[in-house]
Amino acid sequence: MTQKYVLAIDQGTTSTRAILFDQRARLTGVAQREHKQHYPRPGWMEQDALEIWRNVERIVPAALRDSGITLEQVAALGIANQRETTVVWDARTGTPIGRAIVWQDVRTEELVERLRESPGAERIRELCGLPLATYFAAPRLRWLLDRTPGLRDRAARGEVLFGTMETWLIWNLTGGADHGVHVTDVTNAGRTLLMNLSTLEWDDELLRFFDIPKAMLPRIQPSTGDFGTARRVLPGVRIAAALGDQHAALFGQTCFAPGETECTYGTGGFLLMNTGRELVRSEHGLLTTIGYQVGPEPVYALEGPIAVTGSLVQWLRDNIGLITSAPEIETLAGTVEDNGGCYLVPAFSGLYAPHWRSDARGLLIGLTSYVTKGHIARAVLEATAWQTRDVVEAMNADSGLSAAALRVAGGMTSDNLLMQIVADVLDIPVMRPIVAETVSLGAAYAAGLAVGYWPDLEGLRRNWRVAAQWLPRMDPGLRAEEYENWTRAVRLSFGWLR
Ligand code: G3P
Repeated sequence: MTQKYVLAIDQGTTSTRAILFDQRARLTGVAQREHKQHYPRPGWMEQDALEIWRNVERIVPAALRDSGITLEQVAALGIANQRETTVVWDARTGTPIGRAIVWQDVRTEELVERLRESPGAERIRELCGLPLATYFAAPRLRWLLDRTPGLRDRAARGEVLFGTMETWLIWNLTGGADHGVHVTDVTNAGRTLLMNLSTLEWDDELLRFFDIPKAMLPRIQPSTGDFGTARRVLPGVRIAAALGDQHAALFGQTCFAPGETECTYGTGGFLLMNTGRELVRSEHGLLTTIGYQVGPEPVYALEGPIAVTGSLVQWLRDNIGLITSAPEIETLAGTVEDNGGCYLVPAFSGLYAPHWRSDARGLLIGLTSYVTKGHIARAVLEATAWQTRDVVEAMNADSGLSAAALRVAGGMTSDNLLMQIVADVLDIPVMRPIVAETVSLGAAYAAGLAVGYWPDLEGLRRNWRVAAQWLPRMDPGLRAEEYENWTRAVRLSFGWLR
């Protein structure tokens, strides 16, 4: 019998990748292309959805060709994607209406302020598990509908369609204007502010609140199942899974049991804790989200997004020039024993979870003439660790569970000193698996499960193996004292922006 593989497409914020996995979850082929970021005004961030689609058209054949795998050997396709990025396109021609508005774009700040004062705003969190914020898709869609003449009427007639990136790619893969399938999954729909967290359907009250016509929205499905059969790029291959990238990471890290927690460290950091069948409403500044849905019932999760982690190291390199390459931070921070009394709160665009303070701005505090650049480098690494601690504290408090370990992935996990500091300040082991491509792997796992390529969750769990582990070894008294200092520094950053 010919060997089969599962293909994952990871459509991320900066690039799109196609990765092939074999049955033992080994990576057997990969191709990647970056797309251009557009910054037309301060705070605006856009991408060209057609460019992203064309990148998919190129990387998928490239990944197959380079690994010598034929189309017939692809058992299924799973898609993971940057979440909340909003695309609207013409259903008849497939042409996007303007550029996609990216999740980091804050053009809707004023609109969100206004909506917060509107009747019904107090119901949002209860209905969809999210706070009303510029981060999510609905305000972007509303902004587009308000500002593009005639768009709302066309949307109501189903002539223009809305989607996040997985919806856009699936529609194109399955035929585009020629009967393309218009679908999304619960994890992506759950980040719009429009999906009811209990019914897993578009919520009429929320649609009314944001004034969004239902006709333009995709059908919501579980994360695994049938998203249609590709007619372009991979003709005949079933699209068997779609998940938001951070949900895919939870799945790829095989965090299937309540309390299991993972974090993917990129430019920002995203922590998710599995809370099982229980929908936990956060009282400590976290998002309630669907972890994944592979059967009739969803598995819920608590999420704490951190806006700035890896990008702080980039800032130190590009804006301040304290290091010339990102890995150098570990060497510089390793020249000192501790932070020398200084703390850096990277509230460059406010603080996300668990504080949600858009009025906070960054600060470096505790400076004395004793402090060297080594101490500042150390404070930079600690900022990621303390922010992680803030989120894990909130998760434990909200869920009544206690994270016993943190599974990690992403670029920053190659920094051993940082990972040791994370273990120290969390006081739990931090573990990185052998397959570091947890987002793609999660999408592949979900697709493979749907078509019987992998039999069950237990089988997937067995594939998860530790590549590196960091155990806590900080003195408890010192940990408590340092955390209190960090907490004081965070509070001082609040309200700087008036
Ligand atoms: O919520 C945004 C997140 O999904 C983006 O992830 O890895 O594409 O930056 P990433």
